[in-house]
Amino acid sequence: MTDKPENAPSSPACLAHEADDAYMGFASREEIAAFLNELLEAERAGTGVALRSAQAAADTPFGDLLRDVHHDEAKWCAMLLRQLKTLGAPASAKVGAFQEKALAIQDMRERIAFLNRGQAWVVRKLGEMLPKVRDDVLHRDLQEMLQAHEVNIERARVALEKA
Ligand SMILES: [Fe+2]
Repeated sequence: MTDKPENAPSSPACLAHEADDAYMGFASREEIAAFLNELLEAERAGTGVALRSAQAAADTPFGDLLRDVHHDEAKWCAMLLRQLKTLGAPASAKVGAFQEKALAIQDMRERIAFLNRGQAWVVRKLGEMLPKVRDDVLHRDLQEMLQAHEVNIERARVALEKA
């Protein structure tokens, strides 16, 4: 009888790889999976808020903006699900609490300002994680997500200023 647990990873190379990642300051697979799921819940909430708000504000200067934000948020949900699948990690089915909080705000201007603060939180989280992501494809996707969020934040800011 050996003292090796039955479910020990079969490839020592994988373990060495994980240890190297941590040593080099890169996030572990578990940290990345938790991060992607946190973002997934947030983007799902963003998708719901933008969709419901686009419907409510269809005939206002915010209609186009909210439809575009809805399209983007849904796109990032799909990307995050794809990356979780690539990692072999289970995807959260939750919707972030942000959705309920945002939809409780009746004034559309205030709601869009709140949505923008949520988007800024996503930008901050992405900025913190990007230097710790070693995988090139994931890094590129998250970088693109960060930049697209910055574009939408600015668009919303300008729309609020004009309206
Ligand atoms: Fe977002």
